[in-house]
Amino acid sequence: MSPPAWGVRRGDPADVAALAHLVAQVLPEAGDEAFLRGLLVRPAAEFWLGGEQGGPPAGFLVAQRVPPELEILWLGVLAEARRAGLGRALLGAAGRDCESIHLEVRAGNRAALAFYRSEGFGERGRRRSYYPGGEDAISLQRPLRDIPRG
Ligand SMILES: CC(C)(COP(=O)(O)OP(=O)(O)OC[C@H]1O[C@@H](n2cnc3c(N)ncnc32)[C@H](O)[C@@H]1OP(=O)(O)O)[C@@H](O)C(=O)NCCC(=O)NCCS
Repeated sequence: MSPPAWGVRRGDPADVAALAHLVAQVLPEAGDEAFLRGLLVRPAAEFWLGGEQGGPPAGFLVAQRVPPELEILWLGVLAEARRAGLGRALLGAAGRDCESIHLEVRAGNRAALAFYRSEGFGERGRRRSYYPGGEDAISLQRPLRDIPRG
């Protein structure tokens, strides 16, 4: 069976409830709807939603854009929609016009580390006890030369 043709679009204020619903299922540590609303009023903050064309969103990406850089804050895909290219599609849409992308990921998050490595990210360093509870973060970055243009 061929993978779904994902549709990805920039979210607007009317989509924050849908974003919060996804975040609650995939990455609750990213915060509830009130927190996300507060974050997303910042001029640099933006989010993207993706899913099957005409269907409900199944994945999201929240980022801060300070041109020419993009910092990914959270990226998540519903468990049942994983390994079908939606994470890649979200990253491709959000990262299209920036020169570099960087982020922090939990050192123990093997799936996310494998995902970002497969997408051309390299390790910049480790931030000790970065997360509540004491887990280290791995800092990842993808420079311009690795970003597909099209
Ligand atoms: C990380 C995450 C967003 C990836 O989303 P996804 O839609 O499944 O990723 P894609 O299907 O686009 O994967 C692209 C490639 O990344 C790699 N990859 C993705 N998930 C992987 C996994 N669990 N193990 C190994 N490699 C993986 C593969 O190379 C994959 O290509 P392939 O399926 O053709 O082999 C998803 O696993 C997720 O939502 N995890 C929970 C939330 C999270 O931890 N987010 C990151 C921290 S902010």
